Amino acid sequence: MSTSPIEAVAAVIKAASNPVYVTQPAKSAASKWAELLEFTPLIDSNEPLALVAGYIDANDVSEDDVRPTTVVVTDGTTLLQNLPFLSLSAYKKTPVVINVDLSAGDYGVVTAFSDAQIPIFVSQNAADAFVHTQAAFAAAASEKSAVLNFFSSASASEKITTDISSQPQGTFSDILVQYNINAFLALNKVSNAKDAIVFLGQTSPELVKAATAQKALLYTVNVFQPLDLEALLSIIPSSVETLTLVEQTTKIASFSPLLLEFFKKYPQFQHLKNFTKIVGAKYAHASDASSATSNLLANTRSASPLQNVLFGKADGTASSEAQTAQSEKQAGQLKVYELEQAYLKVLNQVNPNSTVLNDISEKTLGGSSNPEFGFGSYLYFKERQNNLAALVSAYIQKGVFSSLDNEKLVELLSQWLVQLKQGKAFASVEELLNILSSDQSEPAKEILSLKDYFTIQSKWLVGSDAWSYDLGSSGVHNVISSGENVNMLVIDSEPYSSKKAGALRKKDIGLYAMNYGNCYVASVAIYSSYTQVLQAFIEAEKFNGPSIVLAYLPYETEDAQVLSILKDTKAAVDSGYWPLYRFDSAQEEDSLRFKLDSSALRTQLRDFLDRENKLTLLAKKNPQLSRNLTASANSEAKKRQAQLEDESYKQLLQGLSGPPLTIGFASDGGNAEAVAKKINRQALARGLKSIVLSMDDISVEDLPLETNIVFVTSTAGQGEFPNNGKGFWDELKLSQDLDLSSIRFSVFGLGDSKYWPRKEDKHYYNKPAVDLFNKLEFYGGVELAGLGLGDDQDPDGFSTGYDDWLPKIWTALGVDNVEGIEEPKPLTNEDMKIQSDYLRGTIAEGLRDESTGAICAVDQQLTKFHGIYMQDDRDIRDERKAQGLEPAYSFMVRLRLPGGAANPSQYLRLDELADVRGNGTLKITTRATFQLHGVVKHNMKPAIRGMNGVLLDTLAACGDVNRNVMVSALPENAKVHKQIADTGALISEHLLPETTAYHEIWLEGADDQDYAGDREKWEARPDGPKKKKTMVAGNALVDYEPQYGPTYLPRKFKVVITVPPYNDVDVYAHDIGLIAIVENNNVIGYNLLAGGGMGSTHNNVKTYPRTGSMLGFVPIEKVHIACENVMLVQRDFGDRTNRKHARLKYTVDDLGVDVFKQKVEEYWGESFEEPRAFEIKSNVDYFGWVKDETGLNHFTAFIENGRIEDTASLPQKSGLRELAKYLISQNTSGEFRLTGNQHMVISNISDDHLAAVKEILAKYKLDNTEFSALRLSSSSCVALPTCGLAMAESERYLPELITKLEQSLEEYGLRHDSVVMRMTGCPNGCARPWLAEVALVGKAPGAYNLLLGGGHHGHRLNKIYRYSIKEHEILSILKPLFKRWSLERNEGEPFGDFCIRIGEIKETTEGKYFHEGIPEDA
Ligand SMILES: Cc1cc2nc3c(=O)[nH]c(=O)nc-3n(C[C@H](O)[C@H](O)[C@H](O)COP(=O)(O)O)c2cc1C
Ligand code: SF4
Repeated sequence: MSTSPIEAVAAVIKAASNPVYVTQPAKSAASKWAELLEFTPLIDSNEPLALVAGYIDANDVSEDDVRPTTVVVTDGTTLLQNLPFLSLSAYKKTPVVINVDLSAGDYGVVTAFSDAQIPIFVSQNAADAFVHTQAAFAAAASEKSAVLNFFSSASASEKITTDISSQPQGTFSDILVQYNINAFLALNKVSNAKDAIVFLGQTSPELVKAATAQKALLYTVNVFQPLDLEALLSIIPSSVETLTLVEQTTKIASFSPLLLEFFKKYPQFQHLKNFTKIVGAKYAHASDASSATSNLLANTRSASPLQNVLFGKADGTASSEAQTAQSEKQAGQLKVYELEQAYLKVLNQVNPNSTVLNDISEKTLGGSSNPEFGFGSYLYFKERQNNLAALVSAYIQKGVFSSLDNEKLVELLSQWLVQLKQGKAFASVEELLNILSSDQSEPAKEILSLKDYFTIQSKWLVGSDAWSYDLGSSGVHNVISSGENVNMLVIDSEPYSSKKAGALRKKDIGLYAMNYGNCYVASVAIYSSYTQVLQAFIEAEKFNGPSIVLAYLPYETEDAQVLSILKDTKAAVDSGYWPLYRFDSAQEEDSLRFKLDSSALRTQLRDFLDRENKLTLLAKKNPQLSRNLTASANSEAKKRQAQLEDESYKQLLQGLSGPPLTIGFASDGGNAEAVAKKINRQALARGLKSIVLSMDDISVEDLPLETNIVFVTSTAGQGEFPNNGKGFWDELKLSQDLDLSSIRFSVFGLGDSKYWPRKEDKHYYNKPAVDLFNKLEFYGGVELAGLGLGDDQDPDGFSTGYDDWLPKIWTALGVDNVEGIEEPKPLTNEDMKIQSDYLRGTIAEGLRDESTGAICAVDQQLTKFHGIYMQDDRDIRDERKAQGLEPAYSFMVRLRLPGGAANPSQYLRLDELADVRGNGTLKITTRATFQLHGVVKHNMKPAIRGMNGVLLDTLAACGDVNRNVMVSALPENAKVHKQIADTGALISEHLLPETTAYHEIWLEGADDQDYAGDREKWEARPDGPKKKKTMVAGNALVDYEPQYGPTYLPRKFKVVITVPPYNDVDVYAHDIGLIAIVENNNVIGYNLLAGGGMGSTHNNVKTYPRTGSMLGFVPIEKVHIACENVMLVQRDFGDRTNRKHARLKYTVDDLGVDVFKQKVEEYWGESFEEPRAFEIKSNVDYFGWVKDETGLNHFTAFIENGRIEDTASLPQKSGLRELAKYLISQNTSGEFRLTGNQHMVISNISDDHLAAVKEILAKYKLDNTEFSALRLSSSSCVALPTCGLAMAESERYLPELITKLEQSLEEYGLRHDSVVMRMTGCPNGCARPWLAEVALVGKAPGAYNLLLGGGHHGHRLNKIYRYSIKEHEILSILKPLFKRWSLERNEGEPFGDFCIRIGEIKETTEGKYFHEGIPEDA
């Protein structure tokens, strides 16, 4: 009678009469073992191996007693699910034979246990199974551990004798000898065979025949662990040249654990056999073994065989993937292998029902498949699922169902609730829904409407190591801090070989997560331990909370060779760079929380463990580890070096990639960083192993380990290193005994030879680059290429020097003849606008992202159009960086306030919002509106809603659109002021963008930060700025921008209105300046100036400030249309390719004023009239009280630099609050009007309230106008600490500087003589410094360019008088000049005019001549 494999195994088990556990799908399921054995059944899904371990532990025996061998019978899938339990001590210390039926034919399960460190037998047939099971019992007893015994019940029955031999004693190899088991068995004979196949799976006579026909030797595996490679290599004849390692499986692609196992040991035995090719392959059940085998061998024999291809298809098509792939490859069409799939396939193997939330099927990881969005969709799903759970539990309690089987329904619903709570899968969804569908009640219908949310699945997010660079603002932080039951797979693909220099270059996600606690963390590497990857996935799935699996998969390109990945993984794991571990925060016992699966550790992880006291525990638990634990990563690296010296191994691995190159950059403004990244892209394209990182992330200590290193540094301050290079430079400078003789280096510097133009400052030019180059040379570094210097002053800026230097680097690295890559075009502001869907971008999503205080770069550009700028507190940037925190991000929120007036209720709301949503201060801007500073992300929506509640908004307060329209404050003329304010409001509304994005993003929906009752307040103006969508064909409502189009304007656009003789708005400084022409106290129209603008760039003579050019007179009723047409010409003719040349002023100069005017008239269809006569006399404010023609009173209060705040001596913010409250309580007409000089007019006060108002002003020191005329005429921009462009202090410094000048002015009798003095932190010119009589424009901390000669009433530009001078120089220049002015001026001659008349400075007649005639000794 023939015996089946099951019978053979059962016979052995029965003879042993030990406790036997058999797993089965359900209690009631019939087991094929029932007739053969007595056993305890265990349920597959109940973690049977954990239960068995529990039984073993409970059945404790004394040390001396002999343990009975426990027997488990299970199937491959269940065993795989239970993989983590094999590390329990029961399986390490007691004999257990685990018999596994692989009837499903997937031998992938066998290799999953490669690293479990227990013996593994694999049987081909009943005879094998009979012998192997006996051997397994013997081995379990001798090893005192678990043994895995794989067989397949699908194999045919055969005639065997089932006499049990007596159990032999001895070591594992003794047992094999006694049972006559060969680890590998030759299945055929072929003389002079050139190819050998090792087959892990179920062989068949057809397969043997096919191999023989192909003249290939076929070997089967009897003992998979320990893998006796020596035995295999010694039986393969010397004629064999190629080896194909085949695994029978259908599941995993692009990764072969068998091949991995082979390579782990091969270098040790390579002297026995040197194959020309070693190929891993997969084999499915093939109906046509002959064709599958021939394809398999054809692949191995081809010039460049593909690894891990699946041969033979179960459906019998027997088409070979390899054949197809090979031909595609030959046709140059082979799609690059997606290596990361290795992990995803394993994940799928562990749990075929797991869901990857971010769809990565199309793109490679780290591309546009955004994990943050995946997380968002999870949260959405979860919220709906929670709603469903709440409904279900409420209806269960109410007992409202009327289905066919209510009892069953309630039971299933309750089970579902329990499973949901535990995060476990629920198998009976279909049954539940069937019963529910029979219920016609409303509750049942309601539940059914949410039926999609009954599925309980494990959810995975897949991301790349890009997340490690800014953890605080990444999805990683998002997921961990959420506490949600979400799993993350983070694949790090950067090869270790290209990152030896920097231990600190990336932040360690694992450490970050472990420090956070409350999660599961595993660090795995599939090419180091496949078993550990499986364990990690299974544990992560089980963990009820966030899990992070960090997976290492180093490769240079996507079609990287398996060997290169293997080599790199090995080096990284061996050196401790990529330790393998698992951390389970849910484990109560400390020693179980952290499991180290590799031996060496990086310093950082060691420190973490030290801190957590886990290192000692680990060392105690595992004594042989302690030596490794204390060995430093450096010595491990050296060991690795020695290992690589192994010549033959090297030979095998050679030719996999080009030489390494590290690129370090230091950059403040981004130029040097961009250059470094560009070099890196080019290097990678040329086949170099290149990496780019900031200089502060390079460890000086590890510098000698580099091979080739290139530094790119710009120059900051006065010849200083930029911030992210300072640390490195300080360490390098102070290093002693640094030997760099083994590295090749070069340096490229970015600087500006005119930044410090004085002769004595010449050495500041590119100083960091020069110093660094000399230092590296001093330490013995070998030049890769000479020092390269880029100069902003060269025709192409720094590119001139760069283009000369870079080719030398490629030549030195031997890759000069390789084609580089086409650089992708950087995303321009124009791209951002057009892709933004009418200014939406991902602002709404960014606001919801609580893991960072920032929003993404593109949204930072887009929020400007909504009146919002992201900033960070630069005062504490370094400190926060040192603490590993992201910068202190907050936002500036600017109001659109056409006409510059706020009623007391509006003012009061702003005052309140500044306190509760901002930094407690309000800023009056140089364009007569309010700004809130320090508004953190989660406060932005409530802040904007708060404004909306009092009919204020921020739309178009910044951005490439028409911004706030500013009008002259004009306190003494009520009628004219009303007329210009109305014109201002009309223009502002007329040119307002039409997008509904503002309303959608800021005003719709509930927000966590809204206070109770807030909603009613802000909904008082539900539309926000009154914009609506447009109906297009097909009845779709879409956004439409009739004036702007989807790309809006090339740059910002500003309109102001003034009334001569006043010019408090600086009418010449804006894109459009309107000069009101008043006849009989009535505005009849405006003279229109176009093309004024302030922004420029230091030392870039192509940029300059400009005063507006007169186009002519426009009647009042047409002025908004004239403005629109000026704007439209700029929209169409403005330079959209260069933002530094995009303002209207350049368009006017490029076209010429006449042509420009002509174009506007063409667009408009009307002509400008001749300009009317007017006379402007000043651009300052007049402080104190005035009465207008209607009898209302107005007080211009001095608010220094527009900052409304309470200081000990000046409680101005409290005062204005009191005043607003008073004006509201008395129901007065009073309001708050802002001036372009950043002051405030308390306006429209009737005589009966005058005394009370005066009293409040006096009480809060708001009535003090007794300042020097210089102070009263001064203004500054915000600059540090919030403005990202600031190069020097401004608002915080100008008052101090003025104090230092005041004493002298007093002395010269100039206290009451107005001099317009302005300061800005950079040449962007927000406080319009270029029109001031004295201007200071920041260049570097403490250093300013001094400009003189501006027109007293803002009609003439000034000119640079001295470059980059410090305070003592400023004082020593200005004081004597003021003195001369006091003595030598003509009657009424302003200081600016005086400076020109006496020849101190040349007059600037037009913007384009701004850079001409600068003093030679400037
Ligand atoms: C505040 C500041 C100070 C500078 N100081 C110098 C200097 O001392 N020497 C020099 O050669 N270039 C100097 N520059 C010019 C820059 O190094 C040059 O513009 C470079 O391209 C900026 O690169 P980055 O964007 O990477 O910071 C300075 C630039 C700025 C903004
Ligand atoms: S002038 Fe420059 S430093 Fe000052 S606020 Fe404007 S951009 Fe910032």
